Amino acid sequence: MIMFKSMQREVSWDRCRFIVTIIARSFRDNSEIALTIPRNICIRNFSSQSHEIMKARKYVVVNHFVNEAKPTDLKLVEEELPPLQDGEYLAEAEYFSVDPYMRPYVRRYPLGITMLGTQIAKIVESKNPAFPVNKRIVGNMGWRTHTIVNPKFKDLVFQEHPYLLPDIGDLPSSLCLGILGMPGNTAYFGLLELCKPKSGETIVVSGAAGAIGSHVGQIAKNLGLNVIGICGSDEKCNWLIEEMGFDFAINYKTMPVASNLRKAAPQGVDCYFDNVGGDISSAVMYQMKPFGRVAVCGSISSYDADSSSLPKCTILQPILSKHELRVEGFLVTRWMNRWNEGIMQNLQWLREGKLRYRETETKGFENMFEAFIGMLRGENIGKAIVQA
Ligand SMILES: NC(=O)c1ccc[n+]([C@@H]2O[C@H](COP(=O)([O-])OP(=O)(O)OC[C@H]3O[C@@H](n4cnc5c(N)ncnc54)[C@H](OP(=O)(O)O)[C@@H]3O)[C@@H](O)[C@H]2O)c1
Repeated sequence: MIMFKSMQREVSWDRCRFIVTIIARSFRDNSEIALTIPRNICIRNFSSQSHEIMKARKYVVVNHFVNEAKPTDLKLVEEELPPLQDGEYLAEAEYFSVDPYMRPYVRRYPLGITMLGTQIAKIVESKNPAFPVNKRIVGNMGWRTHTIVNPKFKDLVFQEHPYLLPDIGDLPSSLCLGILGMPGNTAYFGLLELCKPKSGETIVVSGAAGAIGSHVGQIAKNLGLNVIGICGSDEKCNWLIEEMGFDFAINYKTMPVASNLRKAAPQGVDCYFDNVGGDISSAVMYQMKPFGRVAVCGSISSYDADSSSLPKCTILQPILSKHELRVEGFLVTRWMNRWNEGIMQNLQWLREGKLRYRETETKGFENMFEAFIGMLRGENIGKAIVQA
């Protein structure tokens, strides 16, 4: 009973019914039951003795992250998969995304969930004509090598269905985790809809050498803005200027942000695309022009803290009211109904040579954690991905 009460807070009745069915069938099949939670419910979690057993490997969250995530917070386990039922298909992961949101989001769910995340997977077996063998999907199935997907069910975090990879020709499928996926759409919609950039203006982008920041800066440059990036190494600064077309870059670890920003933008800043929060963002906002626009995309400088120990930073209200700044936070899911528009526009810009990308690729499913922590520590340039 306690279990069902807690589930009802998290999931709809339909999904509860699905979980109940799984549990009942698990009893019937005499298989392991680890369900006290609404785990990635598109994934069936029981075994049957009457078929050749397919095994998936997956990372289970065994401790909630405290401060910096530790490898022992996750456990790599094997799971037996049952035969496909009508409507289902089996997807084999090819690429995984490691993203900043994974660090704070995990805490929202009970221990025992499969580690959250998006993957590109190839369909290797199918009983669903809409998802045929050899097609690829983008789905939030978490850190797991093989998944039986029942397309009726949605993922835990975003409540979305996996979707077929768009037609991107001979471009690498991994781009659908980056420039042609969620981060690309975050850059596209966040910049255009909230910053409303205009030619001749000055924009500052923090987290500038990452997946979203490097993308935002390039779109802004194409629109005729003066683009200033803030990031965490000289190598990243050089890359932003030499390859991404930024006008100026500040290494926040070795250069004071405020004085360098005054040098780069003596007239002030019109737009700020904020990926990091904290004092970097306060320094930028104190140099914004009247009626400047700020898109708050993320605050990675706070992700290792819990809600009782959030970092303190310079108060913002004085400049917000004095310069009548417009500050708006957003989640990219706001534009779910325009998802394809973002992907197609970024694809067109990529093909026209107006956007460039870089991936920091880690090889091997067994190195997922290293890739994840490396991204949080700033070891990536561009999009951090893992090849299975
Ligand atoms: N609003 C949305 O819907 C949405 C969607 C996706 C992502 N996001 C947010 O967007 C931001 C960027 O995401 P991404 O996927 O493009 O990640 P990313 O920038 O590719 O990778 C994260 C980067 O954050 C930087 N960083 C880490 N700790 C930092 C700190 N204490 N201060 C400043 N920078 C720090 C590191 O670069 P340095 O070397 O520069 O430190 C690291 O490379 C994140 O805040 C993420 O949560 C929001």
